[in-house]
Amino acid sequence: MAFVTSLWLALLGTFYILGSAAQDYSITGYIASGTGCSPSTFSSSLASDGKNVGLKYGSFTAYAGPSYSYDDGRKNCQLTLSVKVPGGYQFAFDKFNHNASYAIGQDVTGSFKTSYYFQATLPEAEGDGTIAGPAKLDTTLTDNFSPLVWSPCGQNAVVGINTEVRVDNGNNNAASGSFTIRSTPVSFTESYA
Ligand SMILES: *[C@@H]1O[C@H](CO)[C@@H](O)[C@H](O)[C@H]1NC(C)=O
Repeated sequence: MAFVTSLWLALLGTFYILGSAAQDYSITGYIASGTGCSPSTFSSSLASDGKNVGLKYGSFTAYAGPSYSYDDGRKNCQLTLSVKVPGGYQFAFDKFNHNASYAIGQDVTGSFKTSYYFQATLPEAEGDGTIAGPAKLDTTLTDNFSPLVWSPCGQNAVVGINTEVRVDNGNNNAASGSFTIRSTPVSFTESYA
């Protein structure tokens, strides 16, 4: 049998199953660490079947402005996920959707970026976006990964996912900005490539 199968792990509110194989994927464990997800401000809920995990951040905000230090301009959260993968299959992430908000002044830029890689492999996939101030919005921000990076074939995978937000007021030091990620749902969506 020639299976060329791609399981997309996407950040969607919905879980689609287009084949029995999706039943066999599950998130078996995860760890989060970083300046944007310290244990006291981060919470998460892994579904008992391992099909999705909700990530909630209480302090994932980057700031720039006269009263902030350079280090306040960048926050990150590194998530390490262990994924059970059925024999003969691989998966990739196609995108993450972050519940986010920003308020960015004149000549200030806000940016977000997610990258992921599989443990013991080199390629890294990256998705990002930049917002030029002045701008203010509560929104869903999407990291679209291109090109995709696939998990090793037929093996359980450990994937590192790093998300960061930045605010840069280097072009106008008097101006301010903040950029927040509030939550990120992660779930399996299956599609065939
Ligand atoms: C984002 O999160 C906030 C706070 O939990 C919530 O009120 C809002 O409805 C969410 N937005 C979206 C687009 O889900």
